[in-house]
Amino acid sequence: LLAGAGGRPLAGKRAVVTAGPTFEPIDPVRGLTNRSSGKQGYAIAAALAELGAEVTLVSGPTALGAPTGVTRIDVESALEMQAATRSALPADIAVLSAAVADWRVDTIAGGKIKKGPGGPPTLALIENPDILAGVAAPGPNRPALVIGFAAETADLEANARAKLSRKGCDWIIGNDVSDDVFGSDGNAVLLVTADRTEAWPRQSKTAIARAVAARIADHFKAPE
Ligand code: CTP
Ligand code: CA
Repeated sequence: LLAGAGGRPLAGKRAVVTAGPTFEPIDPVRGLTNRSSGKQGYAIAAALAELGAEVTLVSGPTALGAPTGVTRIDVESALEMQAATRSALPADIAVLSAAVADWRVDTIAGGKIKKGPGGPPTLALIENPDILAGVAAPGPNRPALVIGFAAETADLEANARAKLSRKGCDWIIGNDVSDDVFGSDGNAVLLVTADRTEAWPRQSKTAIARAVAARIADHFKAPE
C-alpha cells in the first residue's frame, strides 16, 4: 500500500454510477416508469467518493440530493441515461444500478391524449437499449470493472448468474425485490461473480454500499 493511500484507496480512479428509475413519456403529462427510490445507487456513489474515486452519478428522477463530492447528471428516459452514461466514459469502474424502464412508447404524443368514446389508447412499445450490456461490451472504453444489478422476484441466483453472462459484466448484485426493498433503507443481496456467489445478510443500504465500495477497492489492489 502506498503511504497515505489507506483511507482513499480509490484516489485517481473514475467511476460512473447509474441510479433511480427512468421515465418514458407517453404524452406531455403521462409516462411509464419503474419502481426505484435510487437510495442504493446513491449510497454506492457516496461510498465510492468516500474512498477517493471521482464519481459521476447519472440519475433518473428521485427525491434524493446529490451526495457530497459526486457530480450528478439528471436524466429522465433510458435513451438520455444511455447518452449521459457514455459521456461519462472512459472510467475505471461502472456500477449500473438504475431501474431502467425496459420499454418506451414508439411515438410520443405531442399533445395530451384525451379520453373519449373510442376507449383507451393502445400503446405500441419498443424495447430500450441495454445500457449495461453496452458499457460491458469489449472495446477501448470498457471500464476495467463493470457491475450490474439484478432485480428479481424468483430464482435470484440463477437469474443473476444468467444476467452476468448475458450482459458481459464482471459482477452482478442480485436483489430479491419481493422483500421489502423499494424505498426501504435496508437490503439483502447476492454478490455474483464468475467464480462464486456470496449472500450478504439484510443490512442498511449504506452498509451494503460501503461493502461494495470496499470490495471494489480490494479488486484494484489485487485483481481477481
Ligand atoms: N439495465 C440497463 N439497461 C436496460 C435494462 C437494464 O442498463 N435497458 C441494467 C440495470 O441497470 C441492471 C441490470 O441491467 O444493472 C439488470 O436489470 P434487470 O431489469 O434486472 O434486467 P433485464 O435485463 O432488464 O431483464 P428483466 O427485467 O427482464 O429481468
Ligand atoms: Ca428490466
